[in-house]
Amino acid sequence: MRLLLLACLRARTGNATTAARIRDHLHAAGHTCVLKDAFMYGSPAEIANLTSTDEFDAALAIHLYKAGRLLQGSRIPFGIIFGGTDVNEDIKCREKCQVMGAVLQEARFAVAFSVEMKELAAAEWPDARKKIYVQSQDWHRKDPSVHLGIIGPAVDPLFSSEVKEKVKRLPGVHVLQELPQQELHAAVRRSFAVVNSSISEGMSAAILEAMDLDIPVLARNIPGNAAIIKHKETGLLFSTPQEFVMLSKSLMNDPIMEKEIITRAKAYVKKHHSWEGERKTYQTLVLRLQ
Ligand SMILES: *[C@@H]1O[C@H](CO)[C@@H](O)[C@H](O)[C@H]1NC(C)=O
Ligand SMILES: *[C@@H]1O[C@H](CO)[C@@H](O)[C@H](O)[C@H]1NC(C)=O
Repeated sequence: MRLLLLACLRARTGNATTAARIRDHLHAAGHTCVLKDAFMYGSPAEIANLTSTDEFDAALAIHLYKAGRLLQGSRIPFGIIFGGTDVNEDIKCREKCQVMGAVLQEARFAVAFSVEMKELAAAEWPDARKKIYVQSQDWHRKDPSVHLGIIGPAVDPLFSSEVKEKVKRLPGVHVLQELPQQELHAAVRRSFAVVNSSISEGMSAAILEAMDLDIPVLARNIPGNAAIIKHKETGLLFSTPQEFVMLSKSLMNDPIMEKEIITRAKAYVKKHHSWEGERKTYQTLVLRLQ
């Protein structure tokens, strides 16, 4: 088949990464898949012109609004891949929501990257539920030895119960009880990596501890984390779920990179954040307060 894949290809967004991956999957199956940037087209008429002059058999769009809306009234069959911000953000805008509903109705199928995303879409467009497939990006299903443990004190009871509720539907993800520091360190040592996906700023003692325990760290690229992790040198920084998956896989498949990151992270912690160093600093400073 000759397929058109419409997505926002600008910069290095998550959608662009996903698009390239999907194209590779389709090429591997013997299809032709042509990537086009949704930003280059202003209306469904322009896409209709493209699909007829270029003789496409079918189309795919990543993002129900940004790319999907261009396929409204399409002559050729198409499928939709939810982009994330479509069901999380654009759905809140009544006009966009209406367009997205119409596109979804026309689509042969839709793909969501999580059960949660599917549920959000199905709540808005119940008729589409049956055609929404979940292509989970956690790879627990492909490799059942991969697990994600969420551990720590339940500071906000409401938030914690929401997390527990969601996790119930995600195989391979577990909420673990808070542990005393020594036991926590033992658990970290037995892990493949420590993940920090925080969106709120701070200084992560847990990241420094993991570095000190020779465990690689994957952290969200926010200033607090970027201040202590240099990407691909002392850890890995991600901005999107897709990037997280890609980096985790590269870490699992590249023991040399893993070892180098561990070594440099350890040296970094020793140099800049060592417990001994910190202790000495404070013990010395406090003397000035006498
Ligand atoms: C249709 O496509 C052709 C060839 O790409 C282009 O020259 C023409 O301007 C297009 N028409 C519209 C209405 O977009
Ligand atoms: C994650 O990182 C943020 C920002 O650096 C920090 O505030 C938070 O304490 C960290 N949490 C863990 C568990 O590492």
